[in-house]
Amino acid sequence: MKMNTVGMVLIPAFVAFAFGAASQPAIADTGNNTVQLAQQSEKKAPAAKKKKKRDPGKKLYMLNTCIACHGRNGKGAIMNFPNLAGQDLKYMIAQTKLIIAGKRTGSPDATGNPRSESMRGALITPEGKPRISNDHIKQIATWLSKMEPAKPQAPEQAVDLKQIKQGAKLYKKKCRSCHGKGGLKPLKGYPIIAGQKRGYLIIQTKDIRDKKRTSGKSKTMAAVVKKMTDEQIETIADYLSQIDRTAK
Ligand code: HEC
Ligand code: HEC
Repeated sequence: MKMNTVGMVLIPAFVAFAFGAASQPAIADTGNNTVQLAQQSEKKAPAAKKKKKRDPGKKLYMLNTCIACHGRNGKGAIMNFPNLAGQDLKYMIAQTKLIIAGKRTGSPDATGNPRSESMRGALITPEGKPRISNDHIKQIATWLSKMEPAKPQAPEQAVDLKQIKQGAKLYKKKCRSCHGKGGLKPLKGYPIIAGQKRGYLIIQTKDIRDKKRTSGKSKTMAAVVKKMTDEQIETIADYLSQIDRTAK
């Protein structure tokens, strides 16, 4: 029953948005500053925008309503949803398929459903069949993986340098072996976690620690984070979320 609520309340709004106003600013009326900032910076480069529009991956991203939740060009995702611009291609394909198959696990969101259920609801028919082909998933993910990553979000609370340094130290000790130097060069098919949204990083790391997210390759990480405290996880997220992947 809970799943139906999501299907009926959330999804029509997203779908109506994507089909009726795909070229309008995404979710402009949510008052989400991040989304609007991303759009503003895009407006400054009309030439680049024109060129990108021809990419079939981008078209499919809009048509399949991905933009409603993950933001324009995979940046400025709503709520605690992940940004996808510049994410690892193989990882994105694997996760999209897991989510559509209802196999990505996690703690419930505010609606009481698994976190990925809203995405799944948008991408399956009422009979439970995927609305999107594997080929289209690949085209969207390929396009997203080449997008310039989002700039870091301004932290909600001031983060001092000491805290960031502590986060970097913990990261090096606990996470770098798999996610790479500075969260930027993960092992093959593993996610890039540098510059991701703080709230998302925290939820996912805790879910993996608490064995709520056990899907995909999460179990390879669970043992490493098993004994970490919430505070340690938040400190690492402070550090990771402030890494600017757009800095040259
Ligand atoms: C209704 C909102 C919604 C729509 C529409 C949506 N997503 Fe998502 N997506 C989410 C949420 C929420 C998550 C995080 C799920 C979780 O925490 O378990 C997610 C996660 C993902 C992930 C995994 C990211 C990561 O870092 O692990 C990928 C890849 C993804 N979505 C791709 C897509 C693509 C491609 C589309 C369109 C075909 C799409 N999504 C449409 C809400 C949505
Ligand atoms: C032994 C390897 C390994 C180590 C060490 C590791 N991770 Fe991971 N991590 C993974 C893998 C593999 C995934 C992808 C899981 C999947 O397939 O769903 C992952 C996923 C994540 C995600 C979710 C990313 C997303 O986009 O959804 C976050 C956040 C994360 N790791 C943070 C950390 C942090 C923080 C540390 C250190 C405290 C850490 N990881 C240590 C292997 C590791």
